[in-house]
Amino acid sequence: KTLLSKMIASAVILGFVSTPAMSAVRMKLSHNQSVQHPVHISMQYFAERAKVLSKGDVLIRIYPDASLGDQKDSLEQVQNGAIALAKSNASELEVFHKPYSVFNYPYIFNDSNHFYKTLFSPIGKDILASSESKGFIGIAYYDAGARSFYAKKPIKSPADLKGMKIRVQPSKTAIEMLTVMGANPTPLSFGELYTSLQQGVVDGAENNPTALTLNRHGEVAKFYSLDEHTMVPDVLVMSTKVWNKLSDANKKAILQAAEESTNKMRTLWTASEKVELDKAKKMGVSVVAVDKKPFQEAVKPIFDKLKVTEPATYEQVEKIRALGR
Ligand code: GCU
Repeated sequence: KTLLSKMIASAVILGFVSTPAMSAVRMKLSHNQSVQHPVHISMQYFAERAKVLSKGDVLIRIYPDASLGDQKDSLEQVQNGAIALAKSNASELEVFHKPYSVFNYPYIFNDSNHFYKTLFSPIGKDILASSESKGFIGIAYYDAGARSFYAKKPIKSPADLKGMKIRVQPSKTAIEMLTVMGANPTPLSFGELYTSLQQGVVDGAENNPTALTLNRHGEVAKFYSLDEHTMVPDVLVMSTKVWNKLSDANKKAILQAAEESTNKMRTLWTASEKVELDKAKKMGVSVVAVDKKPFQEAVKPIFDKLKVTEPATYEQVEKIRALGR
C-alpha cells in the first residue's frame, strides 16, 4: 500500500473522514418580510428541521426582504427552477393557480379555529398539491391573521371608502372586493407600498398589524380600523423541478419540517398579533373598533355573482363556510 492510502485508511478508522457532503441539496428560499417577522422565524425553523430530518442532506438558505425579487418575481423563478422555495400568499397565488382564490373571499371564516380547520381539511390540503402542472406545489400554510383597513382616517363603514385609492395585492378577488365596497382598488407590490402611502399615490391599504410595525406603514397611516374582512393564508411553495429530483427520504423530511413549521407559526402568530397591535398604538396609530355588518352586507353581491359565473368556486366557498358551523 502507498503511504497515502495508508493515511486515508487510518483517517477513516479514526473518524476524521466522514461521508463527503457531496449529496447535499442546497436550496434558496425567497420571501418579502424582514428577519423580525414571525414568518421568517418559522421558516428558519423549517430550514433547521429539514436539515436535521434529512440528516444534513437538505440545506436551505433564506433570502428575506424581497432581496431575490418581489412575490410575483419569486414565483416565476420558482416555476423555472431558479429558486427552489418561495413564500407568497393565497392572494398573489390565485393569479398563478386559481384554486387559491377560495381563501380570498371576505367574511368566510368565523375565527382562527375555523381558518385552521379549513387549512387542515381536504380542501386546504388538495389545493396545496393541485398546482403541480403550474411548476410548483404548496408545502405549508402560515397564519397571517385577519386583514383590516389602514389609512390617514378611520374607515368605519363602506361609505368611508368612497373615492379612496386603496392598495390591494395583485389579485382579482381583492380588486373585486374593494370595488363592491365602493373604493378605488390600486394593485401594487408590497415593497412599493410604503412610499406610495407616504407620497399619496394611495390613500390607504389593508393588512394584518405587522404591516404597521415591522413594515413601518404605521408611520404614515395613523388609523387601523378593525373590520377584519379577510383571512388570507401565507403559503410556502416549492418548485416542481426541484421537488421531482429529490430522494423520497428528502421529500419526506421536507414535508415533515414544513408541517412542524406551520404549527410553530401558529404559536408565534397568536403571540405576535397582540404585541404588534400594542406596538402600533405606541407608534401613534389609533386602533378603531368597527361594526362589521355594513361591510358584510356590501360584499354580498360578490357571492351572488360567483354562484352564477363560477359555480365550482362558489361551492368550495360554501364548503368552507359549512366547516365553521
Ligand atoms: C401579508 C403577507 C405578505 C404579502 C402582504 C401584502 O403581509 O404575509 O406575503 O406580501 O400581505 O399585502 O402584499
